[in-house]
Amino acid sequence: MLARINWYCLRFTVVVLFAGGLLQGSVPAADVTFNKDIVRILQSRCQACHRPGEIGPMPLLTYRQVRPWAKAIREVVLTRRMPPWFAAPEHGKFVNDTSLSKGEIDKLATWVSSGAPEGDPSDLPPEKVFTHGWNLGVPDVVFELPQYTVPASGVIEYTSFVIPTGFTEDKWVEQLELRPGDRSVVHHAGVTIREVGDSWLRQAPIGQPFTKTASEGKKARDTSDKAKEPSDAHFGPELLMVYLPGGTTEPPGPGRAKLIKAGSDLIFTIHYTPNGKPTIDRTRLGLTFAKEPPAERVVTFAAVNQKLAIPPGDPNYRLDTRAILREPAKLIGFFPHMHLRGKAFEYRVVSPRGESTTVLKVPRYDFNWQLYYKLEEPLLLEAGSRLEATAWYDNSPNNPFNPDPKVEVRWGAQTWDEMMGAGFDLAIKTHQDPTSLFTRKTKYIIEPEDDELQCLSGSQSCTDGGK
Ligand code: HEC
Repeated sequence: MLARINWYCLRFTVVVLFAGGLLQGSVPAADVTFNKDIVRILQSRCQACHRPGEIGPMPLLTYRQVRPWAKAIREVVLTRRMPPWFAAPEHGKFVNDTSLSKGEIDKLATWVSSGAPEGDPSDLPPEKVFTHGWNLGVPDVVFELPQYTVPASGVIEYTSFVIPTGFTEDKWVEQLELRPGDRSVVHHAGVTIREVGDSWLRQAPIGQPFTKTASEGKKARDTSDKAKEPSDAHFGPELLMVYLPGGTTEPPGPGRAKLIKAGSDLIFTIHYTPNGKPTIDRTRLGLTFAKEPPAERVVTFAAVNQKLAIPPGDPNYRLDTRAILREPAKLIGFFPHMHLRGKAFEYRVVSPRGESTTVLKVPRYDFNWQLYYKLEEPLLLEAGSRLEATAWYDNSPNNPFNPDPKVEVRWGAQTWDEMMGAGFDLAIKTHQDPTSLFTRKTKYIIEPEDDELQCLSGSQSCTDGGK
């Protein structure tokens, strides 16, 4: 009996030693702790969204909050679902790239696999301090929307507000920050500049919520109207900014500013998504003006293609667009836009000599995460350069977001319709007229003709560079 106990003891000791040796040899698991390593990764990569009042479904601030999510965290970082970032790493470097490094992913995975230890309390860094006021400092002017009551549930159509700036002179805007009153219900928001003389949404009320469908007298899902919608005369005012949860407010860079002309109105459009309890939102936009006249003007354009007709069930529908520059300009950022059937997106720059370079590739587009991609280094585009974009759509039942794989999908503002918008920001000289930058007469939205689209990079018969 005694011998037997001894044998068990011995075997147990051997197993423990062996296991200990293994762990020490290949995975220094005991070295990775919440207090020393993990909390620092969470602070820099996750807490912007995963803290109270933000869009992340749970806070990830303390060990107690994080521990129950350990396995889920390993899953979402290994599959790169979190943090949300969609640019393929082989094309372009972006200042706002939030993706985790291989080392950070390894640390998170090792920590979870070794039982998610808390570690030594003395290793814990101070809590990260998040600003509750304006990140841009005290703005020079703040536009506040009226209160909007968001119900507990249901689908709310995009809600717009016309807010006059009251500017009596042209203003150069250096920094912009949009602050939702209740971030948990503001899915995303866009602000467009309506200049004096632009008839766009003139019938809409001032300072009160309205939906564009109602204001334009159109019924949602009215198929006969769909194709006509974008051809309205006002197609093309400039986007001032887009707010995305978790997105940082990137200043346009030294000596650069956006222009809001005297007398302009701002048109806010907000996508509210109910979060289970009724709440009140009151979104504000803060602007700071350039202290001196800027050297460059930042202008937001979109190359579009409204001629889309995605057949029912098509898993890989392709659509192209392009814009040809007549004057040199600097490319500083991208904003690809599609709706629920959007699958992938790509931008290419083709030099006047025909060399094509992919400048952004989004292999797995996600409507819920419409990100802005700001280049680390602006790309100088020569006169005669083409900016091309290609969008792919999945209208098959395999697309989990597809509202209806049995219909043909056309252009329209609703999420069950589609869009193809290759948004991009250019920095131009302040004296350049943005509306004559491109070979086609445009405002801020450029749409090529059919024959132009036949000449895209990859096509051998491309001879019309300057058309
Ligand atoms: C830009 C905001 C944002 C950032 C940054 C972010 N998250 Fe999230 N996270 C969300 C939102 C919103 C959801 C819920 C929707 C979804 O799952 O896509 C979510 C979901 C999750 C889930 C799944 C929860 C569930 O119910 O299954 C986990 C786990 C998670 N995040 C962990 C992380 C970690 C770890 C990081 C940092 C490495 C991170 N997130 C960074 C916004 C963010």
